[in-house]
Amino acid sequence: MSSKTLNYSCTIEQTPAAELPQTDRDLLAAAHKAALQAYAPYSKFQVGAAARLENGQIVLGANQENMSYPQGMCGERIAVFTAGAQHPGVAIEAVAIVSPSPIANPNAFMPCGGCRQVLLESEQRQSGAIRLLLQARDEAVLISESAANLVPFAFDAQGLGS
Ligand code: THU
Repeated sequence: MSSKTLNYSCTIEQTPAAELPQTDRDLLAAAHKAALQAYAPYSKFQVGAAARLENGQIVLGANQENMSYPQGMCGERIAVFTAGAQHPGVAIEAVAIVSPSPIANPNAFMPCGGCRQVLLESEQRQSGAIRLLLQARDEAVLISESAANLVPFAFDAQGLGS
């Protein structure tokens, strides 16, 4: 067998918030409001998330930490898991994830690897892409039309679920 290089590329758009459709701006506003409910005394890094479901409902999340550090949970995962628990079978259309934190990179909020994996599986379960809107403190919003876009060479153990 000869060696080869596997390449991966993804497309993320950057748009000023003011140019987004109203539905996106509403979702971002909900995520910024949710960030106020972050409990992040240890990291001081606040994250807010808002998931818009296909029925128009919006489900919020904010990161919650614990003095036993690994027990904390990311904001977007709380939103996605809450949507699954409270609205089973209702697809998620879009998730806005934001950080107003002064220690966040001001022009980009990128979700952690664990949350990307969770968002990816939600997409796979519902057989429909989840639009991601990512914003820190700048006016610019990063947009990915699918979580899969952010998970190169994703974990995929096909026998696990059977
Ligand atoms: N955090 C999130 O809520 N989402 C991410 O995608 C990255 C990290 C939280 C976890 C922890 O409370 C704090 O930010 C610092 O890592």
